[in-house]
Amino acid sequence: MSQTILAEPTLHPLLASRRSPRAFASLPVPNDVVATLFEAARWAPSANNLQPWAFAHGARGTDAFDGLASCLTDTNAVWATQAPLLILALERPLKPDGTPHPHARYDLGQAVAHLTLQASALDLHVHQMAGFDAERVRTVAAIPPDLVPVTVIAVGYLGAPESLPPALHERERAPRSRKPLDEIVVTAIGGADGAGDW
Ligand SMILES: Cc1cc2nc3c(=O)[nH]c(=O)nc-3n(C[C@H](O)[C@H](O)[C@H](O)COP(=O)(O)O)c2cc1C
Repeated sequence: MSQTILAEPTLHPLLASRRSPRAFASLPVPNDVVATLFEAARWAPSANNLQPWAFAHGARGTDAFDGLASCLTDTNAVWATQAPLLILALERPLKPDGTPHPHARYDLGQAVAHLTLQASALDLHVHQMAGFDAERVRTVAAIPPDLVPVTVIAVGYLGAPESLPPALHERERAPRSRKPLDEIVVTAIGGADGAGDW
């Protein structure tokens, strides 16, 4: 077992309070707040500063929102259509010279992580979804061929679990879990002796 593990480190409250809810309050997200979320994504680090990401968004009640919502799987649509904001996160998988960018999706994920933490700082919650029809969203949102839809992200202020269909009440309140630290972190010891650390 690794010797690197700390006993129950204390998380920053922004990280500790983050979760992916399904219940959102019926409050709109003001435009300047939406802009701040994208500003957070914009300043994320990326390999060679290529910033291989793009975002399309729609506020509830607009055609843009309805278009994104129409691409969600049924299980996501049942709750995500109540969110005040949907964002489509897109990866640019080729570098400017046309060669594959091996870190593009990593960088997009990091940009979304920055957006997510900025959202937490603004009392918002974010719920990312891979459950959507990527081909349909290409057509609906007129996505250019050099961009790849990766996730649809529901954003909004936290709502009451009771606002969800009854089948989702318990799920919304269920405790969250993670792998223990010593399952995901080892001391980086090279050679055959270190190989058994996992
Ligand atoms: C790339 C990605 C795709 C996800 N897709 C879905 C999805 O389609 N539907 C859903 O309800 N949650 C989805 N999630 C949310 C995860 O299930 C959630 O983050 C995970 O269970 C941990 O819960 P927490 O975010 O509350 O800590 C996705 C999260 C990520 C990062």
